[in-house]
Amino acid sequence: MLQRTACPPAGVRIAGTGIALPARVVTNDDMAKIVDTSDEWITQRTGIRQRYFVDDSQDVVSLASDAARAAIAAAGLEPGDIDLLILATLTPEMTCPSVAARVADCIGATPAGAFDLAAACSGFIYGVNIAHNMIRSGFYRHVVVVGAETMSKVLNFEDRSTCVLFGDGGGAAVLSASDDPEQGCLHQIMKSDGSLWRELYVPREMKHVPSEDKFNGVLGSMNMNGREVYKFAVNTLQHTIENALDAAGLKPNDLAMIVPHQSNIRIMQSAREKLGLPPEKMYINIDRYGNTSAASAAICLHELMSQGKIKTGDLVLFTAMGGGMTWTNSLWRL
Ligand code: ACO
Repeated sequence: MLQRTACPPAGVRIAGTGIALPARVVTNDDMAKIVDTSDEWITQRTGIRQRYFVDDSQDVVSLASDAARAAIAAAGLEPGDIDLLILATLTPEMTCPSVAARVADCIGATPAGAFDLAAACSGFIYGVNIAHNMIRSGFYRHVVVVGAETMSKVLNFEDRSTCVLFGDGGGAAVLSASDDPEQGCLHQIMKSDGSLWRELYVPREMKHVPSEDKFNGVLGSMNMNGREVYKFAVNTLQHTIENALDAAGLKPNDLAMIVPHQSNIRIMQSAREKLGLPPEKMYINIDRYGNTSAASAAICLHELMSQGKIKTGDLVLFTAMGGGMTWTNSLWRL
């Protein structure tokens, strides 16, 4: 007779969060000294007023480690309690080893399992879904999900339509097994359409690139077709939110908060208005951080939880889209 070796928990909770901010604040006026742009253009078209860039002492490992340490402390845990660390980024310094393994070592979580997750701006929410499902399996009790990016290292500062949009940062959440069956993810999706990869990509130098994957973009830099990404994002964000609400039998107003990936204030406001929701039901902090890719939803979550703007029992919908193209949502009762 085979025996199960795991005991699935009743629920899953977000036990603690943390963030790490880079050293340098870069305002729109600072960007205007680098490229032909203005504070007025950036603010009106994107909602961004400033972003953070790392200095020479920081990298994606240090940002992710600081955010993970803070989240573990906020959860009242020790690094040695962590079973698994999932790290979402599109700016790893190396493809091997994973950033996650180095972060687990830096924070003293060895021998926790560790892997990187490549889903661009959808990465943190993909990670939250995966962590939830792994805890529900009963094989893992405490999982750290980190979103960390050094976008400034892959920006092309000759492309004004792209380089003004992004910022660096890190955010983390500890997900833990809970005895409360009401707590956890009520609905989730993780989707992709790789035929759209040319709309947003960061090519790496390799010895051989298959001919069908030839591209015209700049090696090592973010190449983006902003208008196409914009159209895709507006449609996807609205439909993803509607699908989650339909699946769970909820109305928009049942949600305490929507936490969208911070891509562009116009994309987020368009979805919110179509859903008939007031501004206070959709969290926005793009004015302070820009688009921090995989870190953005993690930073939002930390601000909301640490400031008591969302609390145990609330219904919260996380949603994102990014390069791939990828898109995802995660509907939670906290
Ligand atoms: N400063 C001043 N002018 C600019 C700038 C700038 N930084 N960038 C572009 N312009 C100019 C253009 O050259 C163009 O000038 P022209 O009319 O003389 O040709 C004019 O502004 C309008 O350009 P558009 O591309 O039409 O501007 P748009 O209103 O579409 O805004 C933007 C561009 C902000 C990039 C928008 O398309 C967008 O937000 N796209 C989505 C980007 C995004 O969210 N990406 C990330 C999502 S996925 C992820 O997060 C990884």
